[in-house]
Amino acid sequence: MSCFGCFSSKEKRRSRRHASRRARSPIVPHPHPREAPLVVDERVPMNHKAASPKRTNNEGANNQATIKAATGNNIAAQTFTFRELAAVTKNFRQSSLIGEGGFGRVYKGRLPKTGQFVAVKQLDRNGLQGNREFLVEVLMLSLLHHPNLVSLIGYCADGDQRLLVYEYMSAGSLEDHLLDLPPGKAPLPWFTRMKIALDAAKGLEYLHDRANPPVIYRDLKASNILLDQDFNVKLSDFGLAKLGPVGDKSHVSTRVMGTYGYCAPEYQRTGQLTVKSDVYSFGVVLLELITGRRAIDTTRENKDQNLVSWQTNASSVGDQERGVTEAKEWSMTSKSSPMSKSMR
Ligand SMILES: Nc1ncnc2c1ncn2[C@@H]1O[C@H](COP(=O)(O)OP(=O)(O)OP(=O)(O)O)[C@@H](O)[C@H]1O
Ligand SMILES: [Mg+2]
Repeated sequence: MSCFGCFSSKEKRRSRRHASRRARSPIVPHPHPREAPLVVDERVPMNHKAASPKRTNNEGANNQATIKAATGNNIAAQTFTFRELAAVTKNFRQSSLIGEGGFGRVYKGRLPKTGQFVAVKQLDRNGLQGNREFLVEVLMLSLLHHPNLVSLIGYCADGDQRLLVYEYMSAGSLEDHLLDLPPGKAPLPWFTRMKIALDAAKGLEYLHDRANPPVIYRDLKASNILLDQDFNVKLSDFGLAKLGPVGDKSHVSTRVMGTYGYCAPEYQRTGQLTVKSDVYSFGVVLLELITGRRAIDTTRENKDQNLVSWQTNASSVGDQERGVTEAKEWSMTSKSSPMSKSMR
């Protein structure tokens, strides 16, 4: 991690992106070797391969049955065969590839019947956790519906294959627009940044206050905030979501999962998860929106790598002022921003 001088700038950029990838599972080896140390279950050792039973071909059928049972067979998501999705993505060809995360690769495609553009996410790792996340994602998105949550159009659980089919968000993720911008790409206007924060908050409010029982997202971060061409927000990736506490319970106890830098410290310490853990992650995203800095930036010196520590424990007022100045500079380069005028 420390040898950034050895990388080309492209590699550097990729490595920094990977620093925001989450731990998909605390019990299997991590897919990205250069990642920052991730949040792990303190009770389950990493690389504990024996805990990952081999998936059998029956599991696809079991998944379908579980999904149907849990949703009362009342689910809008369609089932696709692997062959259909191969056709949709032109055989998963490189030119259809739009992104890659800890779950697997994401391809753009178009459904032949309706002509609708879709994003097809293909699970590329065997293991219990990937399959569990797949199930949770399908169940959650079958039951939760809100303009600020991504829609699941369908899924495929053919044999060993696990794929998710989402509505296509043409502007990609907030991460693509906020962090590591290529030269010449205009920074996001302030107004857009605040609208994104508001939309994300509405999605979160739905999960916490309107869903019953409440749903704890556990994966709020810039790469999971998807955007359409008008910068409307849809939250994505519900594979880590958990039903929140009910009755007079204040928390649910669970293994610690999430993304380093976004994960609430008290949850990381105790494994006690509350809706406030999401609020902490929302605060980190807000800081990213305001400063244009990553939650974890491994290219900075150690004391400045964690955005929250940098912001709260800045060794001198000068550091904080520098952050505000940087933010102002962005605002001033964004001519269309009403906020930019007020900040001058
Ligand atoms: N519905 C979608 N529409 C358009 N692009 C998408 C969609 N879903 C994902 N993407 C693109 O694919 C990229 C990878 O997404 P994915 O959710 O697999 O990984 P991630 O969120 O970046 O990281 P991780 O899942 O490891 O935490 C996103 O950053 C985004 O650019
Ligand atoms: Mg994601």
